[in-house]
Amino acid sequence: MVRNLILIKLGGSVITFKEKPLTANFEAINNISRILASLKIPLIIVHGGGSFGHHLSIKYNMHTRPDQYDPHGISVVHESMIALNQVIVNSMIKVGMNPYAIMPSNFTLAHKPIAKKIKELQSIAEDSIIPITFGDIVHIRNRTYSIVSGDALMSILSKTLRPSKVIFTLNVDGIYKDMNKKEVLKELDNINNSINFSKVVQDVTGGMRRKVTEALKICGSGMDVFMINGLKPERIANAITNTEFEGTVLKGLRSSK
Ligand code: IPE
Repeated sequence: MVRNLILIKLGGSVITFKEKPLTANFEAINNISRILASLKIPLIIVHGGGSFGHHLSIKYNMHTRPDQYDPHGISVVHESMIALNQVIVNSMIKVGMNPYAIMPSNFTLAHKPIAKKIKELQSIAEDSIIPITFGDIVHIRNRTYSIVSGDALMSILSKTLRPSKVIFTLNVDGIYKDMNKKEVLKELDNINNSINFSKVVQDVTGGMRRKVTEALKICGSGMDVFMINGLKPERIANAITNTEFEGTVLKGLRSSK
C-alpha cells in the first residue's frame, strides 16, 4: 500500500449539470479545488463525463463495448472530455495546485493497465504534481474504439497502486439504505465478501450500480472505498484526515491470503 496516496474520482454529476449539455458546475469544481489544495498529500484524480462526454456519447451511440463508432463522434466525445478537463485543471491551478492532465490512453491498452506507466503516475503524485485523468473514448484495436469510464479507471489504478484511500464523489450523501427516507448506510463491511449486493443496489440508479460494482471490486482487494457527496467537499477532507465524515465506507476485504 502506498502510504498516503489518495485516489479520488470527481463524478460527472458533481462537476457538471447532468441535464444541461456541456455545462460545467464551476462552483462545485472551485469548491473542491479549494479543499483539495489544503491537503498536502499525494493525490491522483479521475473525473467523469457528466453532461460533456456522457451527453455526446449518447448522441453518437457509443458504449463501453468496442465497435467501429462514427469517427466524428469519437473526435467530439474525446474533445469534450479535454474541454471539461481544462475547466478542472484551470480551477486547480488558480488555487495553487499543480495538476497534470494525463489521458487514459497513456496508461491503458484496451482497458488493461500498463503497469509501468501507472507506477509513473505514482512518482509524479509523490512529487507535488497531481495527475488528473478522465473517462474517455479510447482506441482498442483494428479501428474499434470504446468508452472507458472514470469508474473503470478507478479500479485499474487502484489495482496497481493500492492507494491508502479510494474516494468516489457523488451528488448524493452516500449509498442509501432507504431511498425514501434518504437514510445513508455508514459502513458496508466486506468481511468474507458478505456484502448483500442485491440489497444495496435495489434502490439506486444504474449509474450508482456501476459505481458500486467498481467500488466492490476495489474493496474486494483490500482497500477502503469512500462514497462521499462531492457537493459538500469538506466531507472529502474529513475522510482523508480521518475526521468523522458523512458518507458510506465500503470496508476493504482483509483476507488471510
Ligand atoms: C464517462 O466517464 C466518460 C465518457 C462518456 C467519455 P464516467 O462514466 O466515469 O462519467 P460519470 O462520472 O458517470 O459522469
